[in-house]
Amino acid sequence: MDLKQYVEIVKDYPKEGISFKDITPLMNDGKAFKAAVDEIVEYAKEKEIDIIVGPEARGFIIGCPVSYSLGVGFVPVRKEGKLPREVIKVDYGLEYGKNVLTIHKDAIKPGQRVLITDDLLATGGTIDATIKLVEELGGVVVGCAFLIELSYLDGKDKLDGYDVLSLMSY
Ligand code: PRP
Repeated sequence: MDLKQYVEIVKDYPKEGISFKDITPLMNDGKAFKAAVDEIVEYAKEKEIDIIVGPEARGFIIGCPVSYSLGVGFVPVRKEGKLPREVIKVDYGLEYGKNVLTIHKDAIKPGQRVLITDDLLATGGTIDATIKLVEELGGVVVGCAFLIELSYLDGKDKLDGYDVLSLMSY
């Protein structure tokens, strides 16, 4: 299935010069959404993962159906102040802005094989920060799966040595 036909490109959003890839039409179409999730499920099976980690907010949308399908757990990585118990945190730079990401300290057991999911790989700041959190807890990142990779932003450079699946590339 050509998933790109379900992605709307919105010029100058959220600010001038940014060409936003809107995945909501893809999510809106049951067949397209299922096809995308199923591809990631197959990838996760090959990698024999124990658990999925996804950054707020769109990483949840991708990671949770994969987690449900495989019967493995899902760990949310959230912006500062959103997780109620003890966390570890890391600073990261965005395509537009700056942020802090956190994860519950007891969310990953040392040695667990982790798949990280998100909708988009842009500068790679978010995935890089998420990897740091997982590894600080002793998790082993065996794969990173995205719907979309913006290859012109070179986010993959930050993922040297990690296995990456992206379903669409721009
Ligand atoms: C977007 C997107 C990725 C990240 C990609 O999330 O969903 O998580 O940016 O950019 P990067 O590779 O340059 O880090 P955003 O931080 O806008 O949060 P949201 O999903 O909560 O809107």
